[in-house]
Amino acid sequence: MNPGQIQHSTVSISLTQYLIQKQRESATRRAASSDNSSRAVSGESRQSGDATLSGESNQYSNATLLGESNQCSNATLSGESNQCSDATVSEQSSNKRNSKPCRDLTVTSELRLLLEVVARACKRISYAVGKGALAGHLGDAGNTNIQGEVQKKLDVIANDVLLEANAWGGHLAAMASEEMDEPYPIPDRYPKGEYLLLFDPLDGSSNIDVNVSIGTIFSVLRMPEVGAEPKARHFLQSGRQQLAAGYAVYGPSTLLVLTVGDGVACFTLDRETGSWWLTQDRMQVPKQTREFAINASNSRHWETPVKRYIDELLAGKSGPRGTDFNMRWVASMVADVHRIMTRGGIFMYPRDARDPSKPGRLRLMYEANPMALLIEEAGGAASTGLGPILDVCPEDLHQRVPVILGSSEEVDRVVFYHKYSVMICHQAPDMRLNG
Ligand code: F6P
Ligand code: MN
Repeated sequence: MNPGQIQHSTVSISLTQYLIQKQRESATRRAASSDNSSRAVSGESRQSGDATLSGESNQYSNATLLGESNQCSNATLSGESNQCSDATVSEQSSNKRNSKPCRDLTVTSELRLLLEVVARACKRISYAVGKGALAGHLGDAGNTNIQGEVQKKLDVIANDVLLEANAWGGHLAAMASEEMDEPYPIPDRYPKGEYLLLFDPLDGSSNIDVNVSIGTIFSVLRMPEVGAEPKARHFLQSGRQQLAAGYAVYGPSTLLVLTVGDGVACFTLDRETGSWWLTQDRMQVPKQTREFAINASNSRHWETPVKRYIDELLAGKSGPRGTDFNMRWVASMVADVHRIMTRGGIFMYPRDARDPSKPGRLRLMYEANPMALLIEEAGGAASTGLGPILDVCPEDLHQRVPVILGSSEEVDRVVFYHKYSVMICHQAPDMRLNG
């Protein structure tokens, strides 16, 4: 093969073709389920209301409200409320996975076109990142954002590209960004739609000026009150309500990793033709790993369960885990998460004792939630240490959460250490998971 020639055997379908396929599959699923429910109404189905309540169906039942499942309530699903239900609870909920998420898996043509606009914006950001110093794009913008962080020129450029590209797409009611204090409603001069888009326009800002991988993270929600003036409260939906989530990595190649709630797909940008090609479908995070990612300079501030877990990994072969672990920390969440999506690992930015008003460093709505959905869709786990990130009931657009995600056996171990930290630390120092 000539250098530079695309290896067509590894290139299957474009992003557009993939999304059309997902739209078709979702229409087929919907037709089948409406067929089933009309048969149920006419008495043809053997599935009774009692069966639903006893959990034999993956429909949302009253049982949910009784706390027997971690699925969403009917109120949440029907969009009558943007509050988390009692069942969706908060950080305190169990780390149970298995149950079918209460996510709306409908891929409409509007959602498909919205995702194509987001992908186009990521392509433009990739070009801006690639130009770097040649376009005068490096360095500080001279402002700070709502979090008090210094904005880089490329943070501002990426934010503007996403706002501009999506404003006139016709599928959104509003957008929210790490770089803006308040949501951005679609101006009246543009057509509006029924979705909400959240993003971290350029994740890993400290790496911008040193030419290390950075990225964009995004999440799509349904606008719960179509036609109403969009407010921050409309965005405050749990991560389980996400209709789609993804990230782009601007690295040696530009990648787009996407879920519409039915597995995770990775697309590579052909920088010559400007097209996205599916290069990995149904990504899977291995359950086991011997690689961890954490900013160890914060170790003196960590809580006991985290300290214990990391100490055990560092002890290696001669410690309680009986094996050596490797460490990697890029300091761009997109790059660290992408490594984990590709070959497994555990990523942690836990709560620590530095500032009690900040329960962690990463933001729930546009960092933790989209990454948690991608990781769960790829068979991994994502927890705050006390419960699944996707079950956290948001209170603020820019709120922070502890993040522990990746290979499920390691995440489960950290959750176990949190749950039983008192017992583990004071009574049973040699206790191990799964024997
Ligand atoms: O967006 C926050 C972020 O830049 C993440 O991308 C990254 O994982 C983390 O912060 C890096 O934190 P630190 O500067 O503590 O290494
Ligand atoms: Mn970020």
